[in-house]
Amino acid sequence: MERDSTQVNTAIAASNLAQEVMRRCRVLASFSEDSAGTRRSFLSPPMHEVHREISRWLQPLGVNMRLDAMGNLRAVYPAAVTPAPRLLIGSHLDTVPNAGAYDGILGVMIAIALLEALHGRRLPYAIEVVGFSDEEGIRFGIPFLGSRALVGRIDEELLMATDAAGVCVREAIAQFGRNPDELAGARLASDVCGYLEFHIEQGPALEKLDLPLAVVDAIAGQTRLEVTFVGRANHAGTTPMDSRCDAIAGAAEWIMLVEREANAVTGLVATVGSVRAHPGAANVIAGEAHLSLDIRHHDDATRNRAVKTFVREARQIAANRGLTLRHATHLDQPAVAMDRFLSDQIEAAIQSAGCRPHRMTSGAGHDAMILTEKVPAAMIFLRTPGGISHDPAESVAPADVEKAIACGVHLLDQLASTPAFLTRTLRA
Ligand code: GLV
Ligand code: MN
Ligand code: MN
Repeated sequence: MERDSTQVNTAIAASNLAQEVMRRCRVLASFSEDSAGTRRSFLSPPMHEVHREISRWLQPLGVNMRLDAMGNLRAVYPAAVTPAPRLLIGSHLDTVPNAGAYDGILGVMIAIALLEALHGRRLPYAIEVVGFSDEEGIRFGIPFLGSRALVGRIDEELLMATDAAGVCVREAIAQFGRNPDELAGARLASDVCGYLEFHIEQGPALEKLDLPLAVVDAIAGQTRLEVTFVGRANHAGTTPMDSRCDAIAGAAEWIMLVEREANAVTGLVATVGSVRAHPGAANVIAGEAHLSLDIRHHDDATRNRAVKTFVREARQIAANRGLTLRHATHLDQPAVAMDRFLSDQIEAAIQSAGCRPHRMTSGAGHDAMILTEKVPAAMIFLRTPGGISHDPAESVAPADVEKAIACGVHLLDQLASTPAFLTRTLRA
């Protein structure tokens, strides 16, 4: 099939922009709390450096930039007319410990590349690029702090949650130079008509299908718990095996059970990703074992059943061993469907970019699942080589980034000529 000159120009522009997107992701990966790898948690000092770099890339584009009170970077590219609706395009700028360079960051870099691809051309809607301050929830054990601020889901209890150093969210915001009493100003304005997020798939599905892009039709729900087995610390050399209350042995029994039982339920994933013993010494029987548990399924009833079962079994194991059990729920986020209209538009744009569209459910959580409470939200996945993510080996192919940008350009133009999109408004 011959390509006309507009398609050829779009392809050349997308190729250059893709290279730049890759370079920028790698630059941002160097801003880290750790010298050995990338770790950038909510409002940690390297987030200032990330904002400074991104501002340099945004400045020439004629955007109005601000940092909201939750530390989200917001840049509005004005519409051709006023008043006009506003489309948000974004993802997150925080990372897990020992992270790759693309989870979240890629979505923000693609959003900037899409503004660059417009070459100053204005659309009948404004575009707001958003770089969320927290999606991973690493610092406070509570994810989506950034996007929660946009939908008004920040309460005093959340602001008082503390990190490992005893600093609460409210203090963290102030230390970063923002005012926690101005959080209302972070909320979505009433002119917002949609949210789009480009993100790596973080799994093996697209690679298996040999496809570069997918439309996300739903995002699996997730529960995050903190579970603590409490025993009695004692001397490792003098306490007989039958006289111990070993918190970490109880935790180990439970971890194995969680893995076995999650394996038996189709589609259920359950992960104990963090284990911390107290006092944590080779010659002391652990008095406490602090564990995280992350449970996900596309069906909320199945997930909730699994949560109840795992907690009941933890109690039983603790009782059998003379331990006590404490647990706290840090997240109970239902599964969500993405917006049908926007997803259909993305599918058409993927086709216009010369790719075969595919629809899939996301096992990973995304800011889109929070935004969808208030505004039609949709996602585009990019193939993830080896399905590897949350690891420095995480990658994405420049050719796939190029296709994602081409898809984004088509999508922006499609939306510009769709009255049904331009008249959409924020849900109450
Ligand atoms: C985000 O990476 C998640 O935990 O799904
Ligand atoms: Mn992640
Ligand atoms: Mn992510």
